[in-house]
Amino acid sequence: MTDAAASVDAHNIERLIEAFAALSEPGEGVTRLGYSALERQAHDLFASEMAGLGLKAAVDAAGNTIAELSPASASGARAIGTGSHLDSVPSGGRFDGIAGVCAAIETARVVVESGSAIRRPWRFVVFAAEEGARFGQACTGSRVIAGLTGAGDLDAFHDKDGVSLRQAMAEVGLDPAGCASAVWDPDEWHAFVELHIEQGNVLESSGTPIGVVESISGSSRLLVTLTGTASHTGGTPMHLRRDALAAAAECVLAGERLAKDREHHGTRVTVGRLDVHPGSITTIPGEVVFSVDVRDLDSQRQRSTARELLARFEGIAAERGVGIRSEVIGDTSPVILPTWVADAIAGAAVAEGLGYRMMSSGASHDAQQISRVTSTGMIFVPSKDGLSHVPEEWTSSQELAEGTRVLVRTLSALDAEEDRR
Ligand code: GLV
Ligand code: MN
Ligand code: MN
Repeated sequence: MTDAAASVDAHNIERLIEAFAALSEPGEGVTRLGYSALERQAHDLFASEMAGLGLKAAVDAAGNTIAELSPASASGARAIGTGSHLDSVPSGGRFDGIAGVCAAIETARVVVESGSAIRRPWRFVVFAAEEGARFGQACTGSRVIAGLTGAGDLDAFHDKDGVSLRQAMAEVGLDPAGCASAVWDPDEWHAFVELHIEQGNVLESSGTPIGVVESISGSSRLLVTLTGTASHTGGTPMHLRRDALAAAAECVLAGERLAKDREHHGTRVTVGRLDVHPGSITTIPGEVVFSVDVRDLDSQRQRSTARELLARFEGIAAERGVGIRSEVIGDTSPVILPTWVADAIAGAAVAEGLGYRMMSSGASHDAQQISRVTSTGMIFVPSKDGLSHVPEEWTSSQELAEGTRVLVRTLSALDAEEDRR
């Protein structure tokens, strides 16, 4: 089985990265939103890669695509798995999520082609709609798998065109009403490992090829609407205005101030979307809708920060005589990953002769949700200049191949060990 890791081919990984990157809306970088036709095409490409290796992939009700390599003789041992996502943010990069899917395909290839005997079922998974960029809530496919999101929740989330999660799923041929059938049974599982790009610059700046993730930040997301009075920019004197954008500007700065104060070391607050209406040079903004993303490793502080922000926004709105409405459009708790899976990853890095460091993830991941089902680990590989969610996102195929070797070795070690429960 150790030979399988040595067969990992950087060129094959590069071929796969290119093939997925070609499935994009026109424009800068990669745009392949969750529950779009393009995302489904990317899942189909994964399924055809699996078919080329003799593995049959199935799509569940929520759009997750799963292929299994079964042991030659049924041992009754629990499954291990790996995978990530293929959707992107608008104008994103070609590695976020895709790196972990390409690593999963390459892992399947080297294990199948080496003819290595396996004890456990190996499952290769592409989760649907991981990015929260479209509907607010991130990790829809993996949340359904973990039973955290069910059919009854799907009408609560909308994209910016008003399309609900349920409609979007149905429009690409999925079965939103059947979400319960996609839930994984923890008794079937031994462990899951996701490879992902770091999306920060800790690995690159320290010259470390492998990150072993110990914990993953949670996120609380709000959508805030401020309503003032749209009117003529020339005719309306400054003291008689109810300018929704001026109020929003104060809110943005209040968020930055709160996240930078002494009690919030490590909290991250971002306003990433801000829609101004009517959006005319000569009309005072009458309405502004903006998103707020609060990330933290401390779940209590994450939620109390979101509450505190709303209180501050209400104060700003009241002072300016502007109306305010808000809704929670996403909420995910931080998780601590089990040390024994992290130890297996660290051991695999050492066996590959690669340096590693333990670290936390500031971004959300499917692994965060899957850790509710089974023991889960994450392998990080470096991101050039720490950039992610932008077209400049970059990880070399050599770095991806190193991470994939560590993944193959980790899964091999997990395959060989006894069940833990
Ligand atoms: C997922 O990419 C996230 O927004 O953390
Ligand atoms: Mn991702
Ligand atoms: Mn992402």
